[in-house]
Amino acid sequence: VIAYLAPKSLEGERVVVTAGPTFEAIDPVRGITNLSSGKMGFAIARAAREAGADVTLIAGPVHLPTPRGVQRINVDSALNMRSAAVQSAQEASIFIATAAVADWRPAVAAEHKIKKDGSGQVPQMAFVENPDILAEVAHSPRAVAGELYCVGFAAESENLQANAQAKRVRKGVPLLVANLGPATFGKDDNALLLVDDEGVTELPRASKRSLAQQLVAEIARRVKGTDV
Ligand code: CTP
Ligand code: CA
Repeated sequence: VIAYLAPKSLEGERVVVTAGPTFEAIDPVRGITNLSSGKMGFAIARAAREAGADVTLIAGPVHLPTPRGVQRINVDSALNMRSAAVQSAQEASIFIATAAVADWRPAVAAEHKIKKDGSGQVPQMAFVENPDILAEVAHSPRAVAGELYCVGFAAESENLQANAQAKRVRKGVPLLVANLGPATFGKDDNALLLVDDEGVTELPRASKRSLAQQLVAEIARRVKGTDV
């Protein structure tokens, strides 16, 4: 089949991707973030678009160009990412959570810059847990009804397969994609382990672009039940 005549694997699908870190304010000039580069999520958004999907990319603070044809929503905190994700997911058929969402945020963000008071005392900071965006979307009525296919990511520093399978069940998602972090953060290549109820599929070390294309094909096969 001539390539441009071949049906695209995600034609007619609406895909939402979360990507990058979140930023949790301490005061107007400081905050807590993490080392996620956003590259894998941006590569997946690009590959999904190239596969014919309508793509919304919800991006934490990263300096990466928006893939061609992708609708981008910039967010900072986990709470803002959650609002954008929950709203976008209502129209979506596939939700892919690659973002490294901060697990905790300062319980209160100071309204003004916190100043040293000259006594040498350090500020005490209390944290609260952020909402689990993926679990919330994956337990929404449309996801439970099978109208929204949810994919989670996990960076694990050890016991990749066991941790990934446990996390898949805990999050309530049909597919969880695991990689060894933080070794892959910011790198241009990666290796992925796909965990679903059938078992484990390995996508060996390759560029994030190539892995994103392979992952999109794996997702399309699971959503559409075909090999196009
Ligand atoms: N995730 C999310 N919202 C959160 C935390 C995680 O949507 N507040 C998503 C991530 O985008 C990823 C998946 O959940 O797709 C797994 O994230 P991970 O940090 O590995 O899992 P946690 O449940 O936070 O567990 P832990 O960090 O303790 O391993
Ligand atoms: Ca986490």
